[in-house]
Amino acid sequence: MGKVHILDHPLIQHKLTHIRQKDTGTKEFRELVDEIATLMAFEATRDLPLDEVEIETPISKTKAKVISGKKLGIVPILRAGMGMLDGILKLIPAAKVGHIGLYRDPKTLKPVEYYVKLPTDVAERDFIIVDPMLATGGSAIEAINSLKKRGAKNIKFMCLIAAPEGVEAVTKAHPDVNIYIAALDERLNEKGYIVPGLGDAGDRLFGTK
Ligand code: URA
Repeated sequence: MGKVHILDHPLIQHKLTHIRQKDTGTKEFRELVDEIATLMAFEATRDLPLDEVEIETPISKTKAKVISGKKLGIVPILRAGMGMLDGILKLIPAAKVGHIGLYRDPKTLKPVEYYVKLPTDVAERDFIIVDPMLATGGSAIEAINSLKKRGAKNIKFMCLIAAPEGVEAVTKAHPDVNIYIAALDERLNEKGYIVPGLGDAGDRLFGTK
């Protein structure tokens, strides 16, 4: 079963409180999402394998750790996931970036893939899919399906705020995927927004409302 990690670090929680507030403007919102994503990436990469190398300090020879050559891919779900990308790349600059675009079919209300562009060596990479809000879980499940269909085996999902409904749906559909969350909120409302949440993450990141 995939593990659900709630990253309750004080710095993450403090910054999250600011982005939840309705009067926080676009510039500050974007900067804080970027910072939270960096802090979350620190935790989400805690299990990266290390190799031992021989080095020489000014004092003596010694053995020291380096990140093993594990290949990583970051996949933001368009468009709100883009807000978390740079913050993660600050810590993992060598990661390749894929993109997945999904829209909700107005009849079935199911997510439909309209754009996928991934690194060519999908099967050899470990992936972190990012989207700020895990609401019903539909987009996350579809994005994970999309990566698995193309050969990905080791996938993590990272979001800022999740609804219990979304966490349950993703863990049920993809029990092998570890989920990293900054806050687990109360519920979804009748319009599919997370309560209390922060509103529409895409609109708040890009100033479209
Ligand atoms: N997507 C958002 O941007 N906000 C929500 O509350 C739910 C889904």
